Amino acid sequence: MWIRNAWYVAAWTHEIEPGRVHARTIIDQPLVLHRTADDGIVALEDRCPHRFAPLSLGRLEGDGLRCMYHGLKFAPDGRCIEIPGQKLIPQSACVRRFPLQVVGSWVWVWMGDADKADSAAIPPTIALDDPAYRLQAGQLDYDAHYLLIDDNLLDLSHLSFAHEKTLGMDMPQWADLRPRMSPIERGLRFERWHTGHRPRGFMKKLGETVDVWTTYDFLFPGIFLQRTSFFPAGTADQSGRKAPQREPLFHRIDEQAVTPVGARKSRYFYAAGTRASDIDPDKLQRLYAVTTTAFHEDKRIIEAQQKMIDLEPGRAMLPTSLDAGPTQFRKLVEAMAAG
Ligand code: FES
Ligand SMILES: [Fe+2]
Repeated sequence: MWIRNAWYVAAWTHEIEPGRVHARTIIDQPLVLHRTADDGIVALEDRCPHRFAPLSLGRLEGDGLRCMYHGLKFAPDGRCIEIPGQKLIPQSACVRRFPLQVVGSWVWVWMGDADKADSAAIPPTIALDDPAYRLQAGQLDYDAHYLLIDDNLLDLSHLSFAHEKTLGMDMPQWADLRPRMSPIERGLRFERWHTGHRPRGFMKKLGETVDVWTTYDFLFPGIFLQRTSFFPAGTADQSGRKAPQREPLFHRIDEQAVTPVGARKSRYFYAAGTRASDIDPDKLQRLYAVTTTAFHEDKRIIEAQQKMIDLEPGRAMLPTSLDAGPTQFRKLVEAMAAG
């Protein structure tokens, strides 16, 4: 069962090019997105009310979207403004419009009751063109239920194994140290120190060993907002093993969103980078390449896991202490589904 009253990431803003229509599906609901002359973006149901042809096969005419089956035309608010050969346009001739917000570089769409859409519920994220940062964006399509991808992000112990030669190589302690987990609005917060970390590659200049503070908020439906901050060795103890109060030597940013498309389809949006002062564009490329390789490692194992689950859907999994995050988050999702 899908949770409709929530914001979902539909696209990167740069994907929605002017003059084109874009088909997207979120929680099995087909949408058509397009830009308007004032550079706004609208999301309409991708179904013409006449004979149900997809409007994403239609044509933009200024701000109007014309269905290219029999020619009905719709304004950005979803009202029908033209029926070929017919003067009277009935009130019912309209397409559903979904509330939409752009925050940072993500296009968010509210899939439920429009009067419940609260834009304050959208978490702030860093825009890709923010000059204070250097970020690179990507995305991946998964043949898997979104909650399996959420489980992966809610339990980073997998870095030591699934990413043994990529992300886990940098900090092999991921599996052995449990993070501190606390509930936040619509999600969970995770925090932990890794001490005695030996930087590799271009990070070597930070010191022979450093202390690393990692924190992320994970919000419904799969928003992962992580900061990884590198400090001189000893900072973890000086901070009482709590959040550090000083500027890091190096500050990595990872912002990701999992969007359920259908029961076995999800889209994964991600941006990886640092403060602009931390690295040059060449090193950003290297950081991004390792990150992308790692995300393909996740995809491979999660899609294979999904197939195993589907062979015997009722079979119980073995609980361990690693599962605290995924278990807690699924309770939250169940509570949201129950309303
Ligand atoms: S189906 Fe769209 S105009 Fe007929
Ligand atoms: Fe991963």
